[in-house]
Amino acid sequence: MNPLKHVAIIMDGNGRWGLKYKKSRNEGHRAGLNTVEKIIKQSIKSNIKFLTLYAFSTENWKRPKSEVSFLFKLLENFLQNKIDDLHNQNIKLKIIGIKNFSKKINRLLNYSEKKTFRNNGLQVNLALNYGSKSEIISAFKSIYKKNEKISEKTISSHLQTKNIPDPDILIRTGNTKRLSNFLLWQVAYTEIFFEKKLWPSFSKADYNKIINKYKKIKRNYGNI
Ligand code: FPP
Repeated sequence: MNPLKHVAIIMDGNGRWGLKYKKSRNEGHRAGLNTVEKIIKQSIKSNIKFLTLYAFSTENWKRPKSEVSFLFKLLENFLQNKIDDLHNQNIKLKIIGIKNFSKKINRLLNYSEKKTFRNNGLQVNLALNYGSKSEIISAFKSIYKKNEKISEKTISSHLQTKNIPDPDILIRTGNTKRLSNFLLWQVAYTEIFFEKKLWPSFSKADYNKIINKYKKIKRNYGNI
């Protein structure tokens, strides 16, 4: 059985789910947040150490202003209402991506990270304003500045995911098979699962099925 430390998820399909069931993309995002909470709980039960969720990409700024504002309001309410609960569950929250949001959101993100910093249960990495290519560029710039040697180790250690093992599993819901600029360096040997269901419909049972499938895979890392 493969050990499982880190699951990364591209939570795709909120918009389509919202339009189909509630005639509103934003309602899809609200429903998507319920799935986030369910999957966090299940990750704790499954003894997973790291859960990385792609919540907002650098490309998502292209969406209508009203949708972007809704997403950040959802995030704001979620953190304001749930950070104590997350903290009590020994969850450590880490933001990956560039924190250049409104003062209010930045403050809330910093507060939430600080509050949960010493927790040693599940670490939830929330990818916000995240883009893998720009993360890699920044890593190279920082290596160059410090005059360090280029190696797999130094590159990994200059990424925002430093000290986090590479994902064992990457799940993308929403019936689309692409990586969308997510953790491109980190998923070199990750087992990838493309799930047809839209994120708000993704269930604990679907998650467990993927975990069980993963545990039985023979991971060769190029060997035989
Ligand atoms: C992709 O679906 C989803 C997003 C860009 C946002 C993800 C946000 C959540 C799951 C809820 C908010 C989370 C937090 C932590 C506040 P899409 O809108 O691209 O779906 P589509 O492909 O059907 O249009």
